Amino acid sequence: MSGGGGDEKHLKPATRVVRGGRRPEWTGPVVNPPVWRASTHLYQTDAERQAAGGNNADGQFFYGRRGAPTQWALAEALTQLEPGAAGTVLFPSGVAAIAGAMLAVLKPGDRLLMTDNAYDPTRSMATGLLTRLGVETTFFDPRDVDTYRALLSAGAKAVWLEAPGSLTFEMTDVPLLAALAREHGAVTLVDNTWASPLGFAALEHGCDIVTMSLSKHVGGHSDLMMGSASAGKRWYAALRRVSQELGQVVSPDDAALAARGLRTMGVRLEAQTRAALQVAQWLETRPQVAAVFCPLLPSDAGHALWQRDFTGGCGLFSFALASDDPAASARVADALALFGIGYSWGGYESLALPISPGSYRSVMPCPTGGAPALRLSIGLEDPADLIADLARALEQV
Ligand SMILES: Cc1ncc(COP(=O)(O)O)c(C=O)c1O
Repeated sequence: MSGGGGDEKHLKPATRVVRGGRRPEWTGPVVNPPVWRASTHLYQTDAERQAAGGNNADGQFFYGRRGAPTQWALAEALTQLEPGAAGTVLFPSGVAAIAGAMLAVLKPGDRLLMTDNAYDPTRSMATGLLTRLGVETTFFDPRDVDTYRALLSAGAKAVWLEAPGSLTFEMTDVPLLAALAREHGAVTLVDNTWASPLGFAALEHGCDIVTMSLSKHVGGHSDLMMGSASAGKRWYAALRRVSQELGQVVSPDDAALAARGLRTMGVRLEAQTRAALQVAQWLETRPQVAAVFCPLLPSDAGHALWQRDFTGGCGLFSFALASDDPAASARVADALALFGIGYSWGGYESLALPISPGSYRSVMPCPTGGAPALRLSIGLEDPADLIADLARALEQV
């Protein structure tokens, strides 16, 4: 048996998760690509060095900043999971990947349209870094297609999407918004961290560049920071250029850890999605809960879109408490025994986080209506234990 380099696009996603990037020339006789720690790459002759410098092709030894087989194997595995991708660039965090994607597309004088429920640091990048670089951002409600169309008609270089959106998980009709963007000559970028390519094939649904925080599902064990951006031929070249210009690089140790997490991502996501739906459905029945925000739920306004476009989900969703006491969400979080309190998500262990999504919105109404709310990342514990823990904690409302 050999590993899975090259073109294995005909295989099912679960098989590609296992085989991706494991080229025999990178793994040698072992299963996983070894950790190639390198700054200097050595050449047999100076002529060989000069040829390598001019070449700058993927998978060519040159210098540590362009990676070595450990990073190449991870990038290739991610590319093989993303239908329509010509390549993947790795970044030291999800936020760095978002910055790389934006800088690959935008230049001074351009206008960006950004979904109003984008991850808060993505918003801050637009209102901070991009503003300083002379890029103007307009936030929009992704469900208000008429206004979105009018904004596109007024001229935009790019559109930033995230589906479902951060903190309250409103779904977006990504194929429609991406098609409209293309009609108006705008590039569509999407943060696909929630679903991963296993749950949503972003490029196949019309997006041009897809970013993901690998710190979440790919790492899967809450011990890694990394990000990726994948694209078809044209935008992959731009991503690769900007990452080299910025000197973005990930360590081979981290790349090996990410690749190790990736191999089990499919089964973790399936289990966490199943458990999250069970917990969310139970929360819907609780008198202390005013609303649950989770597109996996048949009652959710975004469920039909999720069913139409997505092939999977994850363990992340949120809910609002039936209380007007702002301190109630912290009391619930403190009372939980099986959920850690902390940022990030997608690890094997469950997390709870009091949230105030209203403070990160400019145009969309916040569905919590200002009520105290919590975000849950459901891990791999038995959902019955998590539900019992939540039942005890909700007595604090
Ligand atoms: C939707 C989303 N995108 C991107 C990121 C950023 O990823 P990282 O923490 O790896 O920088 C996060 C982190 O929480 C996130 O929730």
